[in-house]
Amino acid sequence: MARQSSIFECTACGARFSQQVGKCGSCKAFGTVEELRGAIKKGLDRARSAFAQSDYSGPISLMDVEISDSSRTPIGLTELDRVLGGGVVPGMVILLGGEPGIGKSTLLLQWAAKIPGETLYASGEESERQIRIRAQRLGAELPTIRLLAETDVREILAAADRMRPDLLLVDSIQTLYDPEFESSAGSVGQVRGCATLLARWAKSSGTPLVLVGHVTKDGGLAGPKVLEHLVDTVLSFEGDRHHHHRMLRALKNRFGAAFELGVFAMMENGLVPAEGNPFFLETAPSPGCAATVVLSGTRPVVIEIQALVASAGLGIPRRTALGIDSQRLAMLCAVVERRGGIQLHDRDVYINVAGGLEIEDPAADLAVVAALASSATGRLLKAKCAFLGEVGLTGEVRPVSQLQLRLQESERLGFECAVIPASGLERKMQFECYPEKSVERIRNKSWLEKNTEDL
Ligand code: TYD
Ligand code: MG
Repeated sequence: MARQSSIFECTACGARFSQQVGKCGSCKAFGTVEELRGAIKKGLDRARSAFAQSDYSGPISLMDVEISDSSRTPIGLTELDRVLGGGVVPGMVILLGGEPGIGKSTLLLQWAAKIPGETLYASGEESERQIRIRAQRLGAELPTIRLLAETDVREILAAADRMRPDLLLVDSIQTLYDPEFESSAGSVGQVRGCATLLARWAKSSGTPLVLVGHVTKDGGLAGPKVLEHLVDTVLSFEGDRHHHHRMLRALKNRFGAAFELGVFAMMENGLVPAEGNPFFLETAPSPGCAATVVLSGTRPVVIEIQALVASAGLGIPRRTALGIDSQRLAMLCAVVERRGGIQLHDRDVYINVAGGLEIEDPAADLAVVAALASSATGRLLKAKCAFLGEVGLTGEVRPVSQLQLRLQESERLGFECAVIPASGLERKMQFECYPEKSVERIRNKSWLEKNTEDL
């Protein structure tokens, strides 16, 4: 008889191997690969095949596929609805990730309090008492919210079957276990097994399901790969715990645009949509501050970039970037030095994006360059002016996507003018724009003169 083959799995990333290895070839972690014992493997395969078979009714005509959006229900929390693409769809499975203390449980309770129907809130993290106290604080003490402090996924499914809620909340997936599997709660096998069972139930009953997932130290969702494939939408709750702004981002969305951004403020009585613009500080004008508009998903966000250029001590000058890529900063410093004729090689450079946002949008380049030039020369940038444009190595200012949308947003926030790439403006706006003739201006310093005022 053939020897039963073993399977080894990495408990950090879920990668599988046919033999024991010390270092996971996929996530490069040491000592995380463990043998999947027979029972776990069988249970997993059973759960997987049941999931694949549920609701299977053979091929249907393309024309019979329902596409109307009427099945989408807005929740009533504007920022959350925006991130979800307008609301929830029956049977939608959402993974809500975030660091401990960021506000995931708070968001769940507020969600439950908003919907007209009944919610089953299964918590393996907190007792019913703790949840009640939080609900009191949020003004969400409602009879429609039913609590279940339980970690056995089979018990949760049984309760859900009896209750038939309109929304199922699970806080968190890492605390659940399935008694059929031998591994401990939180292991990749358990996380995947429990999530598979819950997702299958959500799909077959048409109930929206939210799974809370903790993030690991390096920022990944624990068992990320396995869960990301299993759910329809991955939401990431981010922000600095010491700041009151929280950003909710859709990293994946089968039912809407990905990378959509929602911004909340964590107040005494829960999360409220952020008012105004948290990323634009509007401090007293000072050299080294430049505003720009970045796109996060489809949302334009006005941000303030602050630069400080200081004389360096001995050794290699510092290039410190918070909120933008440090390689990009190094490149822009070189452009400012070579094309703008402003000496930076013997000076320390610090860049900070106000409000703790991480930006990747190259449209912010021109604002970084402007902030650097302004700080280095001690000259103020033009007041109420947004800087938009990608900066190339020759000092050219390149067009950015969605220029109109960005200009409209800055105008809405009270900006009066903008420096923009030369090609790109299709429609004259009341708002004043200075199309940048690019190369020449940055090169011969007139660019700086035109955009700054003497102190
Ligand atoms: P919580 O939802 O418990 O976070 P998570 O489930 O992600 O771990 O929120 C925890 C933090 O939010 C905690 O530090 C207290 C703060 N908070 C408020 O500021 N206002 C509120 O109304 C609530 C409920 C929490
Ligand atoms: Mg919590």
